[in-house]
Amino acid sequence: MPQSLTLALSKGRILDDTLPLLADAGIHPAEDINKSRKLIFDTNLPGVRLLVIRATDVPTYVSLGAADLGVSGKDVLMEHGGEGMYEPLDLRIAACRLMTAAIKGAPRPEGRRRVATKFVNTAKRWYAEQGIQVDLIKLYGGMELAPIMGLADEIVDIVDTGNTLRANGLEPREFIADISSRLVVNQASMKMKYRQIQPLLERLTAAVEART
Ligand code: ADP
Ligand code: PRP
Ligand code: MG
Repeated sequence: MPQSLTLALSKGRILDDTLPLLADAGIHPAEDINKSRKLIFDTNLPGVRLLVIRATDVPTYVSLGAADLGVSGKDVLMEHGGEGMYEPLDLRIAACRLMTAAIKGAPRPEGRRRVATKFVNTAKRWYAEQGIQVDLIKLYGGMELAPIMGLADEIVDIVDTGNTLRANGLEPREFIADISSRLVVNQASMKMKYRQIQPLLERLTAAVEART
């Protein structure tokens, strides 16, 4: 009788890229996740279950051991801190960059900078490394609006095509990090359930490598 293994998936944009990757790895949910209101799904693999939760909650479930494994954006992991988790595999999905951005052509302010972002911990660390003094303003989305409305001098946000910045008269400034989604594993689970986790890790690694 195999022990159960729980894999927490990030809802939204990451889920759209995760499901095809899981399919390539031979992991199939027992029913269509996008057509269900359920939050827990059995799979074709005995004992392997999927949770579908908010992207920002995945590190919480995995680090506290409520899920053994998870799929999480590197931006979310950086912000969380990643305690209690290993990050054994870059899934190379939902790729983008974390950057600063400001109104196109606007001069850099002389004194303290007001920075609006979802990623306050990451931003605090990065600006400190640059020796720039900032006042951070926590937002939950639509960061691009903050400089336009005079709420902030700049933002720290995800940039992919740059379309959102351009459409709002902003420009990218400084690169902070390359982002993609990662497989994370609870450290205790890795020890206690290694015999079940290892083949899953191998399937996923093979699926990622087959794509490049
Ligand atoms: P949220 O409501 O938290 O913004 P999303 O469904 O937009 O949820 O997904 C957020 C995650 O997807 C981010 O944490 C990041 O890892 C990735 N991501 C966000 N924006 C983009 C983008 N434009 N292109 C690719 N990946 C992105
Ligand atoms: C994300 C991100 C940027 C945009 C970047 O927003 O926060 O706004 O995508 O992509 P681009 O460079 O290709 O335009 P999302 O659509 O997830 O909206 P949100 O603010 O609700 O998270
Ligand atoms: Mg988003």
